[in-house]
Amino acid sequence: MISVLFVCLGNICRSPMAEAVFRHQLVQHGLEGIIAVDSAGTGDWHLGKQPHEGTRVLLDRYGISYEGMRSRQVTLEDYSNNDYIVCMDNNNEQDVRQLFGSRSDGHSKVFKFMDLLPEHKTCDVPDPYYTGNFDEVYELVSLGCTRLLQRIQEEKLTQV
Ligand code: 4NP
Repeated sequence: MISVLFVCLGNICRSPMAEAVFRHQLVQHGLEGIIAVDSAGTGDWHLGKQPHEGTRVLLDRYGISYEGMRSRQVTLEDYSNNDYIVCMDNNNEQDVRQLFGSRSDGHSKVFKFMDLLPEHKTCDVPDPYYTGNFDEVYELVSLGCTRLLQRIQEEKLTQV
């Protein structure tokens, strides 16, 4: 199994949206038994909570399931348990690299979500917990997840 982990701060807005959208894409491609996806937060304020209402509204609008999803915090084990650790902003990346310590030094499995969207100048997925703009996050997340799936298919699933 190839494993993807999306990481944000609270694990209620951005990374759960990415998890749900990516899982939806996996199901559409028949890859849900081959690629696993999860999300986690660097902070611990919302442990056990379902995604934020703004995220749920967007997912409902697009018919994307978030059933059973609950906020959890990133753990040290997440480093070895995942192949792609995709951080929604620069602070999230710094925080997980600090948690993972020297294991993750220079390791390309930890990267920023916006690295998937180089045509955008910003390196952070804007945090809708503060901006209130969940629509712009959905647009970025949707396209970024498509790119991530292409990348994984190229890197791990190409048959010679
Ligand atoms: P997220 O947004 O990192 O996209 O889940 C946030 C959620 C909660 C908080 C900050 C950001 N908070 O400070 O509680």
